[in-house]
Amino acid sequence: MTNRVIVFDTTLRDGEQSPGATMNLQEKLRLAKQLEMLGVDVIEAGFPASSNGDFESVKAIASTVKKVQVAALARANQKDIDRAWEAVKDASNPRIHVFIATSPIHMEYKLRKTPEEVLEQVSKWVAYTAQYTKNVEFSAEDASRSDPDFLVKVFSAAIAAGATTINVPDTVGYAQPEEFGSLIRYLIQNTKDSDKAIFSVHCHNDLGLGTANTLSALANGARQAELTLCGIGERAGNSSLEEVVMALRTRKDIYGGIDTGIVSEQLYPSCRLLAHIIGRPISATKPVVGGNAFAHEAGIHQDGMLKNRQTYEILTPESVGRKQTDLVIGKHSGRNAVRTRLEQLGYTLNEDQLNDVFKAVKDLADKKASVYDEDLVALVVSEVYRIPDRYRLINLSVQTAMSGMPATAAVELKVGDDLVRKASFGVGPVDAVFNVISKLVGRTPDLEEFSISSITGGTDAIGEVTVRLKEGRLTAVGRSSNPDVMVASAKAYVDALNRLDHKDQELSHGCSAEN
Ligand code: KIV
Ligand code: ZN
Repeated sequence: MTNRVIVFDTTLRDGEQSPGATMNLQEKLRLAKQLEMLGVDVIEAGFPASSNGDFESVKAIASTVKKVQVAALARANQKDIDRAWEAVKDASNPRIHVFIATSPIHMEYKLRKTPEEVLEQVSKWVAYTAQYTKNVEFSAEDASRSDPDFLVKVFSAAIAAGATTINVPDTVGYAQPEEFGSLIRYLIQNTKDSDKAIFSVHCHNDLGLGTANTLSALANGARQAELTLCGIGERAGNSSLEEVVMALRTRKDIYGGIDTGIVSEQLYPSCRLLAHIIGRPISATKPVVGGNAFAHEAGIHQDGMLKNRQTYEILTPESVGRKQTDLVIGKHSGRNAVRTRLEQLGYTLNEDQLNDVFKAVKDLADKKASVYDEDLVALVVSEVYRIPDRYRLINLSVQTAMSGMPATAAVELKVGDDLVRKASFGVGPVDAVFNVISKLVGRTPDLEEFSISSITGGTDAIGEVTVRLKEGRLTAVGRSSNPDVMVASAKAYVDALNRLDHKDQELSHGCSAEN
């Protein structure tokens, strides 16, 4: 058995399904390019039958990234499989990932099928998929709560019908590490022709065991791991890519040298990009990539670190791509310096994009003495990877007050081609700004979340604002960064409104599906 573990990244599919992690096409493409640089083997780009938006993103990713396999998810039915193939067929190595549930509870209540009927469906739809491509992955949804002997029958049938990857999901994060490892070993030992397929695992994190279960499965013969950056995904998320990769590298002694092809120096940049795109900062205590992962506060620890870093560090910050933030660009830096630095950070922009970013860098450098790498990345994300705007903030004036007086805000906004302006009050300046904007656009979404953090240090730091809005069934996250937190707040609010508007349009043109 080979020691090489295939990394199947599902940030753009299972990860994107998590509340508030929705990405637009440009953002998905950008992340897909970053995943390619990170060295993942397979990108699961989406679930094409679930919406036209997903279909278009999978199609765009399939024709853009060429060094990795691109997978599309499909339920076990003709419509889903045809749609998945249509979306993914231009990839250099396309994969269709077809799934059906196998646990008693899912078969009885969700599918309303007997185990025999499910088994028949597996053979039928895997064989149908294999007419399109030899790269067929089959998943038994809720496998960890399925009868292991039924799984053996299902997987034997799937391999006989042409599946080349067999995935064992712990769909509800129920499994325990030892139990899950033994299940994988049992399935590999008992499935007919198991050597004709690669066994894979897909672990959810409901009990905080996603990474532990994945590692246990790899130690027991699985050779594909389905992972997401920062562990984003349904409910409590999926097993974290960065954790699994660095656990294998750090404890070669335990895992017998099994390893992935991941370029670990790209782990932090990848997670940071994702955090920017979905507007959710990386938690400080997140293993491997969190802000505190390499911070040492206690005196005893600092003393040990000064004597020998290995006293308290099992990974080096450099090995996961965390370097000191460099001061790179100032007021007098030219276009070429900005282009070169962006390329070093992994952003290759076309001329128009570079113009927009360069202008934003100059504006920022006028207000702020030093432009750091983090500032640059924030500008690229807000200038280049944003959805087409219906609403645009033109001008803003805010006045705060004390002693029971309300704050006031006046805002000038473009709504389509119309320039509109209004003033209003609020209990504080942010409330006043949001009230005016809401009146100007004629929408009254609920504000579910509002957060401000500073990207770099100092009182002239860029403030990064995230706003989450809910309107009916739709939610949208908006974000913006600016040295003036009121401007960042207004822009983030407008960004979220644009995303709600975009989703409205997508819903009126598209369709949606339930798993
Ligand atoms: O969690 C799950 O079971 C899934 C499958 C579609 C693989 O995401
Ligand atoms: Zn899942």
